[in-house]
Amino acid sequence: MKYKNLQIEIKEGIALLTINRPEALNALNTNFFNEMDHFIAGISKDETVQVLIITGSGKAFVAGADIAEMVDKSPEEGSSFSRLGQNTFRSLEHLKIPVIGAINGFALGGGLELAMACDFRIASSKAKFGQPEVNLGMIPGYAGTQRLPRLIGLADAMYLLMTADMIGADEALRIGLVQKIFEPENLMDEVFKIAKIIQSKGPEAIKKVKYVTRTGILMDFDKACEIEAEYFGSQFKAEGEVGMRAFLEKRKPDW
Ligand code: CAA
Repeated sequence: MKYKNLQIEIKEGIALLTINRPEALNALNTNFFNEMDHFIAGISKDETVQVLIITGSGKAFVAGADIAEMVDKSPEEGSSFSRLGQNTFRSLEHLKIPVIGAINGFALGGGLELAMACDFRIASSKAKFGQPEVNLGMIPGYAGTQRLPRLIGLADAMYLLMTADMIGADEALRIGLVQKIFEPENLMDEVFKIAKIIQSKGPEAIKKVKYVTRTGILMDFDKACEIEAEYFGSQFKAEGEVGMRAFLEKRKPDW
């Protein structure tokens, strides 16, 4: 499939996905979701990729769902467009490999919802964040009402959802919406450095830590701990033995 909205580069086991529709600030339309579903299906089978980075081209990460596409939709079509985005972002979240959001500019509405489906976010000091849907008489439709309070807590989420305030990177860092900030010119180098750090760890441990954390946070605590114990155990006589033995022998592990 030749993509219109996506650019993909894979180098040394790190995939960089750039959302590339700068003339509309990378606004998300049906075509984007179809391409993204195809990309996710492919990358989920690609054993050579250990980390995925998502960014946007131009001055936006993504400025939201495509308002021009949405304006004439019926309520039924609106709900379908919501489910389309929810499903795509859910399958992104379900990827076994870590997904890093490199937030280069505006991450608004559906753009912030996409960023929140990444495992964590690294921002340019120029990035801007918000859920401005109520300005349009709308509410978030790609699980923003659900991921935002789970990520930053109910009151900060309610503040952003109800005021549509567009916040800068410092404020996003303060409330835990992003994990680090870099100057725009250093952003991608720094994100690649973080991806390489992750790549240097036990590859199965990285996938399992993602699975257990993401699955467990939606479950009853004791049941989640059972899953943790099972996955913890599964690393013995396997990658865990390699890593622990290397520690005891004061050398780097050879996974
Ligand atoms: N959908 C469609 N087109 C968009 C867009 C969007 N979400 N955001 C920007 N664009 C288009 C603009 O219409 C404009 O197109 P033209 O050049 O053809 O006029 C182009 O991108 C550049 O945008 P601006 O001229 O507005 O750029 P700016 O720098 O002056 O402003 C901005 C930047 C503050 C981000 C402003 O574009 C803006 O407010 N965008 C809309 C943000 C928004 O409301 N997002 C939420 C969408 S609803 C949603 O996402 C629902 C959901 O959860 C599923």
